[in-house]
Amino acid sequence: MTLLNAARDVRERAYAPYSKFKVGAAVRGASGQIYAGCNVENVAYPEGTCAEAGAIALMVASGETELVEVAVIADSPSPVPPCGGCRQKLAEFGRADTPVLLATTGGVTLATTIGELLPGRFDISHMSGNE
Ligand code: THU
Repeated sequence: MTLLNAARDVRERAYAPYSKFKVGAAVRGASGQIYAGCNVENVAYPEGTCAEAGAIALMVASGETELVEVAVIADSPSPVPPCGGCRQKLAEFGRADTPVLLATTGGVTLATTIGELLPGRFDISHMSGNE
């Protein structure tokens, strides 16, 4: 199964009764294993979680902390851009050159990287001297 197909499949199980906007995400760990997640909304809106966060949580819970590829899909007119928080979450476990494929259910894709999505990222080097 391709990473994008994994994201497409898990998107069907998204819980998005409030926005009606279902998102699927899949990350590939360094082992080659695929981890997929969907958005899970809540009636207390800020408690909802993004698809990317779900995929990352599954990867970490499965014992991996390095991702080498990302795919995100939604039923949007143009490939859905991950939110700011998810960009930082992806950056935590990937590299600047890690490929990210953004897709619409209609077949439009945009290939980018974590570095392009989050230039000037905050990272551990900015905390040096504070330990
Ligand atoms: N959402 C994601 O899951 N990932 C994204 O990259 C963009 C937004 C979700 C959050 C919320 O459940 C819905 O899409 C509308 O914002």
